[in-house]
Amino acid sequence: MFSPRYLHMQSRIYVSSKNFNSSFSTSSRPIAKFDVSNGKDSDSQTSELNPKGKHLGVFSHSTVKLPEQLKKAVDKILSSCTDTNLSQNAEILKNHLIFKKPPLTETKLQEIKVRFTEKLSAAHPSPDNSFLSAEDEKKIQNTLKSKIQKVVSQNTYRWKPVIYNEAVALTYLVARIAPEYATLYQIFQEICSRDQNFQPQTLFDFGSGIGSALWSAKSCWGDKTFKEVFCVDSSVDMNNLALALIQGGVWPNKASDFNPIDLDEKEFSSTIKGLYFRQFMPASSAVKYDLVVCAHSLLELPSAELRLQIALSLWRKSQGYLVFVEHGSRAAFEVIMEVRDFLLSLSEGNKESNLQGYVFAPCPNKTRCPRLAETTPCNFEVKYEPLQINQRIQKERYSYLVLKKGQRPDEDLQWPRVVRPVLVRSGHVICRLCTQEGKLEEIVITRAKNSKLENLMARRTKWGDLLPVQLSRPDTTELECTLEDEKNL
Ligand SMILES: C[S@@+](CC[C@H](N)C(=O)[O-])C[C@H]1O[C@@H](n2cnc3c(N)ncnc32)[C@H](O)[C@@H]1O
Repeated sequence: MFSPRYLHMQSRIYVSSKNFNSSFSTSSRPIAKFDVSNGKDSDSQTSELNPKGKHLGVFSHSTVKLPEQLKKAVDKILSSCTDTNLSQNAEILKNHLIFKKPPLTETKLQEIKVRFTEKLSAAHPSPDNSFLSAEDEKKIQNTLKSKIQKVVSQNTYRWKPVIYNEAVALTYLVARIAPEYATLYQIFQEICSRDQNFQPQTLFDFGSGIGSALWSAKSCWGDKTFKEVFCVDSSVDMNNLALALIQGGVWPNKASDFNPIDLDEKEFSSTIKGLYFRQFMPASSAVKYDLVVCAHSLLELPSAELRLQIALSLWRKSQGYLVFVEHGSRAAFEVIMEVRDFLLSLSEGNKESNLQGYVFAPCPNKTRCPRLAETTPCNFEVKYEPLQINQRIQKERYSYLVLKKGQRPDEDLQWPRVVRPVLVRSGHVICRLCTQEGKLEEIVITRAKNSKLENLMARRTKWGDLLPVQLSRPDTTELECTLEDEKNL
């Protein structure tokens, strides 16, 4: 799709020396060559042939709406709900999830304890206590110890699992269905758009909750595409609610044609053919799935060990794409990066072919994420229509990772990812990019220096898209001339 044979037609632009954001390197400036051919089977492209600057790196950014069928099911379920505090509780749950962090590791906790002990000792140096009895000395030590414990617990994040019972599941539905459906829809749209041959027939969803992944996947690949859908969620109430939504708002144990869930077995298969709900991960990885999803569930797990175990099981289960998505907070981004680096290290250092794969999105590289060296997370944004009518369009920030099994195809030119909003000015466009080399770079496309088509292509590109350019380092003579030119920018 991103055909290298058109590279010879690319034209050149230079990177501005203006430092718009310190994260984005401008010290040694790369040259950006636009792939104006855009993978089309013609010798060259002009703005006349492509008057809107369309290109293959642009993905859908329209406001995402819930499918009518899902909206009706939600309305039906909520209309019979008697909880008058639902909206208020939904707001509280939403904030809890947005600010959620992973549990602290034992090592981190010890580090914090040592830090506070040192701080307290420095603030209160021990007086001469040789006159104290051993017993009194012990009492003082115990008081100091409990003081340290109190300060540590006041200053450390206390992770608590959310217990998804029926009331919390309903609250979750109100708080999260619209943004979670929208986020997955936007991610799946990119897969659809870049890999048009991919027609998933099987889906595995870990921490499936209310089933947003299935709804989004069906909207992207069609209602009839999936022959098997396997949902794992430890909460029976979440599984019940997900099934109620699929059944048009009819709770499973109330439907006359449904066999009640066998609570003794703590798992059930639905009457809908090929759709399974389980409370636990299947022990074997023998059955593989085209699309495997883990959405907003990594931070629900009580330890880093379990996160990595689950990530590895999911990677083994995948025979196509594996998608992780979390809220766009710094903590969630770091958890996604932890999984990325772990799975990539297995892919690199392992002969087992089932572990081989590469990052499909968002990173155009496999190097350590440049954002890890700073405080800003790598996140993206989706616009969505909220569940409540008459409310303004809302935006959700998310961090994500899409891995694909196998080797990166030669046609994938690893165009840079636009990692911040594109700044469109009257005479120029500024794009902040993450590159194939794993660097943050900023480029400026100007009316004076770039063709009309390149300007159109840059203007059309949005935060989260790929920019069809190849970046390379200029030789010194080119750099001198560029710097001279830039004064006129
Ligand atoms: C925040 S919800 C995400 C729901 C869903 N993925 C979505 O995007 O709508 C997290 C889900 O993970 C489930 N969960 C937590 N720990 C789990 C575990 N160890 N195994 C399976 N599911 C788990 C919870 O019950 C909850 O439904």
